[in-house]
Amino acid sequence: MPTRRRAAALAAVLLIGSLTACGQEARGGSRYKPEAGKGGTVGLAMPTKSSERWIADGKNMAEQFRKAGYKTDLQYGDDKVENQVAQLENMITKGHRLLVVAAIDGSALTDVIRRAQDAGIPVISYDRLIMGTSGVDYYASFDNERVGELQGRYLVDKLGLKKPEKDSGDSYNIELFAGSPDDNNTKYFWNGAMKVLTPYLKTGQLVVGSKQTKMSQATTLRWDGGTAQKRMDDLISKNYGDRKVDGVLSPYDGISIGVISALKSAGYRGKELPVVTGQDAELASVKSINRGEQTQTVFKDTRKLAKQAVQMGNALLTGKKPKVNNTTDYDNGKKVVPAYLLEPVSVDKSNTQLLVDEGYFTAGQLK
Ligand code: GAL
Repeated sequence: MPTRRRAAALAAVLLIGSLTACGQEARGGSRYKPEAGKGGTVGLAMPTKSSERWIADGKNMAEQFRKAGYKTDLQYGDDKVENQVAQLENMITKGHRLLVVAAIDGSALTDVIRRAQDAGIPVISYDRLIMGTSGVDYYASFDNERVGELQGRYLVDKLGLKKPEKDSGDSYNIELFAGSPDDNNTKYFWNGAMKVLTPYLKTGQLVVGSKQTKMSQATTLRWDGGTAQKRMDDLISKNYGDRKVDGVLSPYDGISIGVISALKSAGYRGKELPVVTGQDAELASVKSINRGEQTQTVFKDTRKLAKQAVQMGNALLTGKKPKVNNTTDYDNGKKVVPAYLLEPVSVDKSNTQLLVDEGYFTAGQLK
């Protein structure tokens, strides 16, 4: 081979070699360019503004990332998958340094996350796990199964059931609601609650009046309160002619509000309302709890969740190792995603004051 051609071939080999090295780095731990340090823009992709919690999540993260020295680009997907994908694509094109994503549909982001991965942009799954991709680096959430357990346990305790036992003489009618089928959290909430409820369903101390006991029969697309209200209207009219509903497992405050509207339309008032659980300590639900309508919610402090996401992001971008406390439970089908899980807290009328004491709401807001 003439010298010049040989030199060119060698250069090509070296180039391919170094590209491969970069590619390997891009998949390994050192893709975060620790020398780059703070600064640059963090993309925050939130699902919807229709629920106040996500507004708070976005605001809290934007504030905290800014304080830590980053610019932020906060986008809401209006619960439409195609919007969220377009927003993420845009963030990648703009060269944002980190993406924090609360997915609308956990399984619909595989392609766009691959693009982030190829561009060397780290991704944090926020509250909801992104499925089917190795491009998710970390997961910040609450102990989701525990949330379901708190809801199930509340229902059982509030109905006054002691141990599961046959022939106890107790028999309460309940109905079951689950979250959105495309949200990975849904099955954790459901499984946690059913772990507590199933023994009582077996003894007959609890009876699902509609017989709709499978998660697939109980899901609520996009966690929509109106959809839950329609289903509850239907369940009441078809199954509760001559008996009453004593309890409703609701996984989320927006669903609880829909369920309560259906119950009120069917004539349930005040003390006749069943025990209704919830999640997120949304203002409308906390007020409803104080009024004696919704019975319980599960408080997940979005400020603390934001803090974890910022801790993880800042560590990733400055070459440090994010703190995690769970490396076993959140398998997204491609990898077990290292997670930091926070503890949820059950709230009912007896302790809504906690939300004021913690500065989550002002006393005035709860009036
Ligand atoms: C879930 C989240 C819940 C609730 C629900 C509806 O993913 O974990 O806390 O907010 O979405 O928005």
